[in-house]
Amino acid sequence: MNQAKSQRIVVMTGVTAGLGLHALQKIAAQPGTRVIVGARGSGRAVPPGVEVIPLDLASLASVRQFSEAVTSRLESGRIDILVLNAGMQASTNEGRSVEGYELTFAVNHLAHYLLARLLLSQMADQGRLVITTSETHDPAVTPIAPKALDPQALAHPDKSGFGMGIRAYAASKLCNLLTAQSFAAMEEVRARKLAVIAFSPGLTGGTSLGRDSPRAMRAVVMLLMHTVFRVVGLFRPEYVIGTPERSGEALAEIALGAVIPPPGRIYVSLVKGKPTFPDPSQLARSREAREQLWRESAVMVGFDDQAPTQ
Ligand SMILES: NC(=O)c1ccc[n+]([C@@H]2O[C@H](COP(=O)([O-])OP(=O)(O)OC[C@H]3O[C@@H](n4cnc5c(N)ncnc54)[C@H](OP(=O)(O)O)[C@@H]3O)[C@@H](O)[C@H]2O)c1
Repeated sequence: MNQAKSQRIVVMTGVTAGLGLHALQKIAAQPGTRVIVGARGSGRAVPPGVEVIPLDLASLASVRQFSEAVTSRLESGRIDILVLNAGMQASTNEGRSVEGYELTFAVNHLAHYLLARLLLSQMADQGRLVITTSETHDPAVTPIAPKALDPQALAHPDKSGFGMGIRAYAASKLCNLLTAQSFAAMEEVRARKLAVIAFSPGLTGGTSLGRDSPRAMRAVVMLLMHTVFRVVGLFRPEYVIGTPERSGEALAEIALGAVIPPPGRIYVSLVKGKPTFPDPSQLARSREAREQLWRESAVMVGFDDQAPTQ
């Protein structure tokens, strides 16, 4: 990091469970590193010295409060690394955020979009923004991936029923990738040499993603992971199931700059525990789609500037 200062400042979401918790442990153990995390609830078990600020991504008001609290704690400091890793997956698309948006879209995409926009000005030059996405965004990997983008339909779905929860999840992860592309294309981001990375940890067992799904649904997913995916994984490496330890370690490596995508690339996909740099889906690379998502998300979070990012 380019600032003449002794301390590296890292802000993270989604580090109270799953792979994020492992990433947090690695990052917090780095010398000279101050870590501020956003988390729901109280009494979170985080490594000693890590600062916890309340954040519920299901509420845009909470995102704004978190951003203000982080900014006031920074004083003259700047954020070197911003890691937006929190995520949820539900069995339906019937949940709603405080502001009335479909919950998966709101938590995984809209809240992080708002948070990254609010904190961008607080980031250090040559800082790093990492957004956790998923290979489920890609129709070449899974049939549940979105083949078109309609932010309004994602925010206010008029269809529900079997399979809509996982489809909402896959679409929200496409939104994470499109948002990363938008930030990477911003003039300000280029001028300040900020690195933007969309990280797909790959199928990772043993996390609590989908924990709110009905017990029967979770049992089916476990069964799939231990049977079908193991066989499919013999032919399709992206179906090989990783561990939260390795996925979290990879997230930490990316956040800390130990793994850097080749020039011009922002997508890192962990396959069999190794970082790879494939093209994301065709839709994820669409300038039209990313600009549409940016504009419509701006309206949804209450920004009156709806200008495209470049
Ligand atoms: N597991 C996989 O196979 C897989 C594959 C591809 C991508 N991913 C992505 O990896 C990331 C981490 O997933 P994981 O598998 O480690 O899941 P996890 O164990 O369920 O962890 C999710 C994290 O997000 C936080 N979170 C969820 N909803 C939140 C909210 N409303 N407000 C604040 N924080 C919230 C959780 O906090 P609480 O402790 O408060 O719930 C937790 O810290 C997600 O973005 C996920 O989409 C996972």
